[in-house]
Amino acid sequence: MAQKHPMASRCMIIALVVMSTLLSMVCQSRLLTDSLYHELLSLPIAGHLHVDPESISAASINYGLIVQEIPAAVLRPSRLEDIVTLVAFAYNGSSIPLTISARGCGHSVRGQDLARDGVVVNMTSLGNERQGTTVSWSQSLGHYADVNGQQLWIDVLEETLKHGVAPVSWTDYLYLTVGGTLSNAGISGETFRHGPQISNVHEMDVITGTGHFLTCSSQKNPELFYSVLGGLGQFGIITRARIALGRAPERAKWVRMIYSDFSAFTTDQEQLISRHGRDRDEELDYVEGFLLMRRNSDTWISFFPPSDHPWLMSLVIEHELLYCIEVAKYFDGRTQSTVDKDLEMTLKDLSHVPEFLHQKDVAYVDFLNRVRVGELELRRQGLWNVPHPWLNLFVPKSRIADFNTGVFKNIVLKKNITTGLVIIYPMNNDKWDARMSAVVPDEDVFYAVGFLHSSGFEDWQEFDLQNKEVLLFCEDNGIKVKQYLPNYSTEREWMQHFGPKWRTFQESKAQFDPKMLLSPGQRIFNHN
Ligand SMILES: Cc1cc2nc3c(=O)[nH]c(=O)nc-3n(C[C@H](O)[C@H](O)[C@H](O)COP(=O)(O)OP(=O)(O)OC[C@H]3O[C@@H](n4cnc5c(N)ncnc54)[C@H](O)[C@@H]3O)c2cc1C
Ligand SMILES: *[C@@H]1O[C@H](CO)[C@@H](O)[C@H](O)[C@H]1NC(C)=O
Ligand SMILES: *[C@@H]1O[C@H](CO)[C@@H](O)[C@H](O)[C@H]1NC(C)=O
Ligand SMILES: *[C@@H]1O[C@H](CO)[C@@H](O)[C@H](O)[C@H]1NC(C)=O
Ligand SMILES: *[C@@H]1O[C@H](CO)[C@@H](O)[C@H](O)[C@H]1NC(C)=O
Repeated sequence: MAQKHPMASRCMIIALVVMSTLLSMVCQSRLLTDSLYHELLSLPIAGHLHVDPESISAASINYGLIVQEIPAAVLRPSRLEDIVTLVAFAYNGSSIPLTISARGCGHSVRGQDLARDGVVVNMTSLGNERQGTTVSWSQSLGHYADVNGQQLWIDVLEETLKHGVAPVSWTDYLYLTVGGTLSNAGISGETFRHGPQISNVHEMDVITGTGHFLTCSSQKNPELFYSVLGGLGQFGIITRARIALGRAPERAKWVRMIYSDFSAFTTDQEQLISRHGRDRDEELDYVEGFLLMRRNSDTWISFFPPSDHPWLMSLVIEHELLYCIEVAKYFDGRTQSTVDKDLEMTLKDLSHVPEFLHQKDVAYVDFLNRVRVGELELRRQGLWNVPHPWLNLFVPKSRIADFNTGVFKNIVLKKNITTGLVIIYPMNNDKWDARMSAVVPDEDVFYAVGFLHSSGFEDWQEFDLQNKEVLLFCEDNGIKVKQYLPNYSTEREWMQHFGPKWRTFQESKAQFDPKMLLSPGQRIFNHN
């Protein structure tokens, strides 16, 4: 560490003394050995390691507010070398291996980004939000952006828009980090057409579990590249990704249609996602869907004009369960004059309840950033920082009708506790590259189903019991679901989850993180 000024170095010494006192307090209560603590303090990154109670407690929980794991320290890196130093030390310097978890925004809902007795790396303290995005063009790739791993997608969007371009594949919510979503998949209503976010990456820089800084792509270090995409943080820390871009539209036609019949709903959804690549004019840009129940009306009613609320509520009460398809078609000055006609053509043969087609015309950015509005409202009501016992599944198309009966009707409706959003939309398997670590069902089309529960601090277990009932129903009935953002803890469960990919996953772990240091909170290789 550079010591430019005598005052600075005195502060440094005081800071070190304060820190060592704190560290020793932490060490007494934790498993850190004395020698490990002296080793940590002698590192050049000692000044970036935080052990104060606020830092520790902030890094011991996440958005889920269900799991708590107390780390030994939090690293706030100011440059990538700080992370390399930490990993290299943990790999080959510390007297006992020290686990390390990269943390984006901590939007995980189980223990995924936590590290008991390890070091949590606060990726966002690397900073340089907007400057982190560079837009370029090449003959072979077209437009692409180089973005930092810790960057939020909202910042990537704002920066790329200045060049008239934008990423093509999104998540519903944009205050997530690039490294965090690429470690999972990154799915939304564009996935059917462009694939998940992990299918739209050309190249990455990664700090592996051996402390090596490597660039990887399908050509260069391909094993690392494919392992890291959907790799649940197990092989390296993503510090840069080269993301595919397309021309940015200006506006979106945003439409919701209501169905009372599940089979009509899924037939139409599947038909809409099968059109991609055929006739450009009839292609949609976004297809999702969700459940309408009386119990969760707060999550959907506001899209519709107030004059329709009484109607809609009576329809929901009559049917108990309705389904909604949500689609969007993007347009700009060039396509403004034809967008309505094209949309009409696309939607004309659908069998939704006729009077319930609702349409909005919004700015593209506002469409993509739609969840932010809900977030700010929930924050205002004190309902954002509450437990989130979520369950996200990929369900094979061939069993989605059984899922509707067995889960939506016989579990969700009967229990009558689901106040949160329940999303359901199909995607095409051929947009997922089987070489990547991400796991999906073995069918051409499968559905993403998300139970996005919020709960009180005392009653999240009730929702988790329902989640378990859902999983049990699928197991008992041979519905081969895959969990998205998976929550497993035993090796048997992980083997089953990864299926034929398990062997490669293990081999990559042995190659890139042989001491099993990274993202221990996923509990794949680290069992307590
Ligand atoms: C309101 C909300 C809406 C959401 N909507 C969607 C959605 O529409 N689609 C979707 O796909 N997901 C969605 N998610 C889930 C989201 O993708 C996950 O929470 C994901 O983990 C990203 O969050 P994060 O960036 O905060 O990562 P974290 O939760 O901090 O980390 C996730 C995992 O990745 C690891 N990790 C973090 N950064 C890096 C890095 N740079 N390199 C390697 N590993 C790293 C962590 O150790 C951890 O294991 C949503 C989440 C929330 C809270
Ligand atoms: C680990 O450290 C030892 C001693 O400092 C050194 O000799 C060895 O080469 C290092 N190994 C690796 C893989 O870095
Ligand atoms: C991570 O660092 C950022 C920026 O320095 C800070 O706002 C945030 O609270 C930190 N998060 C945690 C969990 O320490
Ligand atoms: C579901 O729960 C709500 C709120 O507790 C209650 O008003 C309603 O009657 C319940 N519905 C059924 C069918 O039990
Ligand atoms: C999530 O994993 C934990 C740890 O294994 C387990 O106790 C919990 O029941 C799991 N939750 C669900 C819904 O599977």
